[in-house]
Amino acid sequence: MTELCSFTPAALLAGRRAVVTGGAAGIGAAVARAFAAHGADVLVADIEPIGSVEFDAAAGGSITQVEWDVRVSPCPPRIVEHRPHILVNNVGHYLQPPHTFATNAPALWDELHDINFAHVLRLTQALLPGMTERGTGSIINLTTVEGHRAIPGHAVYSGYKAALTGFTRSLAAEIGPAGIRVNAVAPDLIESVQVPYAALVPEEDRHLWPTWSPLGGPGRPDDVAGVALFLASDLSRFVTGGTIHVDGGTHAAGGWVPRHSGGWTNRPRNP
Ligand SMILES: NC(=O)c1ccc[n+]([C@@H]2O[C@H](COP(=O)([O-])OP(=O)(O)OC[C@H]3O[C@@H](n4cnc5c(N)ncnc54)[C@H](O)[C@@H]3O)[C@@H](O)[C@H]2O)c1
Repeated sequence: MTELCSFTPAALLAGRRAVVTGGAAGIGAAVARAFAAHGADVLVADIEPIGSVEFDAAAGGSITQVEWDVRVSPCPPRIVEHRPHILVNNVGHYLQPPHTFATNAPALWDELHDINFAHVLRLTQALLPGMTERGTGSIINLTTVEGHRAIPGHAVYSGYKAALTGFTRSLAAEIGPAGIRVNAVAPDLIESVQVPYAALVPEEDRHLWPTWSPLGGPGRPDDVAGVALFLASDLSRFVTGGTIHVDGGTHAAGGWVPRHSGGWTNRPRNP
């Protein structure tokens, strides 16, 4: 018997509701637009206003906002009342320029915990009962390549992002039987407010992008949004507990860079 292909060119999130934290700018804004363009009603939770947002509304999606600092507990009732099928825990930050761990003020550890980890636990727990009741849900946590490899000067930040990766994996196993999936996306080198590569990389250095990542760079917030859309939709219905790296290949390359003379090296000199 011939099986029909289950893929049709239709909106991927029609009839779904989503909450995206930090959806006013950068990766979160691209995720909110992608979800809405695919028919989802998206509630953005951000400390900043979303301003005017443009997306193709043909699929019937929408974007609204609740102003909220994710570090403040409990979350506004409007977030729970939105009854989301999809939660994107996107807010996260390294907060300071690099400092050695030995010179860190312990107060900074608490701030990094609050902005990278604690709010994810609180909001996820607040929204789980609704997802469990509906028997369906997709939770997407934004981690970083530095949860998987080192970032000297940001040891505590990378520790909390690695914790988020472990949380993602274990929670996925715990709530899979309830029909709820949990995955992580680990970006690197994405142009955003937090890391404005257009300003950080001078014109004369831009030809060096291919030595940072096999696909060059920088990446765009939409590159992450595409993966989030996949994880939010039924395209990934059998995927849980994993991490998708959206980094142009930096995690895979693991320090290998092209030699100027051809071939590859992972040694300090690059003749
Ligand atoms: N851009 C990258 O290359 C990159 C690399 C690694 C990891 N990440 C991760 O991706 C996620 C998004 O990063 P981005 O680069 O798009 O960030 P961004 O700084 O460009 O945008 C962050 C958004 O979160 C909002 N926000 C900040 N603090 C908030 C708070 N306390 N409460 C509510 N909203 C708040 C901001 O207003 C903004 O809209 C983060 O978790 C970050 O750690 C990004």
